[in-house]
Amino acid sequence: MSNDLRQRLEGASGFEIPDHRWKQLHEKCLEASNFTEQLALTAVPKTDWFRNAPWYQALETEFCSHLKTQAKPWACWSAGCSTGEECYSLALILHRFLHPKNGQLEILGTDFIESRLNFAREGKYSAPKSESPLHSYRPSFESSESSWQIKELPCKPQFQRHNLASEAFPKPTKGLWDLILCRNVLIYLSKEKQRELLRQFHSLLAPEGWLMTGASETLLEHQDLFQVRFCGEAFYFQKR
Ligand SMILES: C[S@@+](CC[C@H](N)C(=O)[O-])C[C@H]1O[C@@H](n2cnc3c(N)ncnc32)[C@H](O)[C@@H]1O
Repeated sequence: MSNDLRQRLEGASGFEIPDHRWKQLHEKCLEASNFTEQLALTAVPKTDWFRNAPWYQALETEFCSHLKTQAKPWACWSAGCSTGEECYSLALILHRFLHPKNGQLEILGTDFIESRLNFAREGKYSAPKSESPLHSYRPSFESSESSWQIKELPCKPQFQRHNLASEAFPKPTKGLWDLILCRNVLIYLSKEKQRELLRQFHSLLAPEGWLMTGASETLLEHQDLFQVRFCGEAFYFQKR
């Protein structure tokens, strides 16, 4: 019964649940009231504003310069966006440095756990700690002592349910993606699923488009598809 559930969860998410992790999880999964809740238990939601600062510095500097050379509307997709902080961090940077007009920038956040997307759509977060880089973006929020609510942005991120393991990948309204963020998601997937995803990301990226993964997701096997680039302490993969 327990192994059956583990296989169903692996099938639905594309994850490989290692034995040690299943030992921590399976009791909680058996207590959960339905399969969606069980799936949410296996899919770690951890995220943060401007998570891994050097990656956001690379977006501020090199990626904004790259976008300026693109004539078409700009398109960015955060795959596995959890509760939305990654999409809004990106949106805040792109608005600050590129001042997009209505319709000039599309940001899509996807995740397969609907409750995380609902949270992201609401855009209301706990007030950040005093050392958070978010403070420099305070005018973009309605803030109280306990919570910060994102205000309207000219090009606000949209959020959509999508399962990376089993569904056709989303395309932007026009053309291909300039940036795909898939950070801290690939590590949970089997090698085979990772390979499949990377090929699909490659086919949906515009020429010289960027793929950004998490700091520990190095994709060493994919040098035929992507050129690894370094920017300060960060790295990204540029479509060949
Ligand atoms: C650890 S969080 C990372 C969030 C964000 N990308 C970051 O780096 O801060 C991973 C997210 O990926 C989502 N996820 C995992 N497997 C997925 C799948 N097969 N399809 C869509 N989303 C998935 C999880 O629900 C979770 O919210």
